[in-house]
Amino acid sequence: MNVIVTKDYQEMSMKAFELVKKVVTENPSAVLGLATGSTPLGLYGEMARDHRENGTSYRDVKTVNLDEYEGLDVTSDQSYVYFMRENLFRHLDIDLKNTNIENGRAQDPEKECARYNALLEVMRQDLQVLGIGSNGHIAFNEPGTPFDAQTHVVELTESTIKDNSRLFARIEDVPRRAFTMGPKNIMNAKKILILANGANKAKAVYGLVKGEVTEQLPASVLQRHPDCTLVCDEAAASLL
Ligand code: F6R
Repeated sequence: MNVIVTKDYQEMSMKAFELVKKVVTENPSAVLGLATGSTPLGLYGEMARDHRENGTSYRDVKTVNLDEYEGLDVTSDQSYVYFMRENLFRHLDIDLKNTNIENGRAQDPEKECARYNALLEVMRQDLQVLGIGSNGHIAFNEPGTPFDAQTHVVELTESTIKDNSRLFARIEDVPRRAFTMGPKNIMNAKKILILANGANKAKAVYGLVKGEVTEQLPASVLQRHPDCTLVCDEAAASLL
C-alpha cells in the first residue's frame, strides 16, 4: 500500500484531487467509484473548483457509488444519492444518466443487489474512492463481513449509526439498514484511493496499514490490493 501523510485535511483533499484528476485526464470516460461522508467533501470541492476554473470535463465519466440507506431516495436530503448530486454532480458537467447508486427504495432488495452486481461487472471502477469508519468499515461493510461478499443489505452497527447520526435531526431517524457494495466489488477496482482524517480514525488506519488482514477490520483487505493508496492527515496517521 502506498501511504501519503499530509499535514492537514486541506492538503489531504488536494493530494486526493490530483490522483483523481490524473485518472480522468488520462481516460475521459473513466469509471469512478465514489463515496459519501465528510471525508471526501474537500476532494469533491476541489473537483468542482477545477471544473469551474480549468474546464476539466466529466461529460463521459461514469460513476458508481458505494452505498445507500434502505428506504431513502433522492427526495430525502439524507440519502446518499441526494448527497452526491448536491456536493458533486451539480457542480460538474456529468450526465446524471451516467451516475449509479443502489436504489434505496427498491421493492425487492435481493433483486436490486443482483442488478448492482451485474452493473459493476460491466462497469469496473478505474478508481475507487473510499473513506474509513472508526471501526475499520469500508462502505457499509461492518466488522465480520466476509471478504468475498458482493452487494448486499446490511444491518448497521450501533457505532456506525452513532457516527452517522450527526447528519440527522435525531438518532432515531438514522436508517437501520443499508445497501452496500461488498469487499469483493471494492477489491475489483483497478485502483483504490482511501482517505482518512482526524484522530478518531487513527486506530482504524493502523489496522488498515499495519494490522492483521482480518474480516474483523474490513479495510485490512486492502493490503491485498495491488494498487491501493492511502492519503491521510497527520492525526489519522499518528499510530503508524
Ligand atoms: C460512505 C461510506 C462510509 C464512509 C465512512 C467514513 O459512502 O461508505 O464507509 O466512508 O463511514 O465516513 P466519514 O467520511 O463521514 O467519516
